[in-house]
Amino acid sequence: MTESAFDSARFRQVLGHFPTGVCVVAGHHEGQPVGLAIGSFFSVSLEPPLVGFCVGHGSSTWPKLRESGQFCVNVLASDQEAVSRLFATKEPDKFATIGWERSPLGEPRITGSLAWMDCTVYDIHGEGDHDIVVGRVHDLGVAHEGGPLIFFRGGYSELA
Ligand SMILES: Cc1cc2nc3c(=O)[nH]c(=O)nc-3n(C[C@H](O)[C@H](O)[C@H](O)COP(=O)(O)O)c2cc1C
Repeated sequence: MTESAFDSARFRQVLGHFPTGVCVVAGHHEGQPVGLAIGSFFSVSLEPPLVGFCVGHGSSTWPKLRESGQFCVNVLASDQEAVSRLFATKEPDKFATIGWERSPLGEPRITGSLAWMDCTVYDIHGEGDHDIVVGRVHDLGVAHEGGPLIFFRGGYSELA
């Protein structure tokens, strides 16, 4: 394998110049709601309707979602920076202090999120130190027409 001409800090710093939205991918494990912040969300296919995200092998939530086989993607709004920060931690109960309700699939729909997608795990591709997770969308909706939360160069912002 060819050596890289940069270290992982440089990789993160340069890739951080690609702006993303922020989602919380949430589900249940042993009856408890679980979730994590995800910036790598992407749409995959229209027919069948597929979406995806990349999750690190260090995630403690992803094995729980994989086991249950389903999850709800919550697209965060510009006023949900605190929600993003909370779901980027390893707090044992990230849902203790936020509002949420059950989606049609029974997964957490976080109050104030812009949009949601109920998914079942469709495929998983291991690549490097991440899994590329493809989800089949079963139901979806727009909850608010506000602006999105943006992550760019390691910080949060919103559309001008
Ligand atoms: C804006 C933002 C985007 C993130 N995007 C991802 C991502 O796409 N994939 C990932 O594995 N972790 C991502 N993270 C980091 C996880 O949210 C973080 O590692 C979290 O602690 C994982 O929690 P868990 O161990 O409960 O799964 C992101 C964090 C932030 C703040």
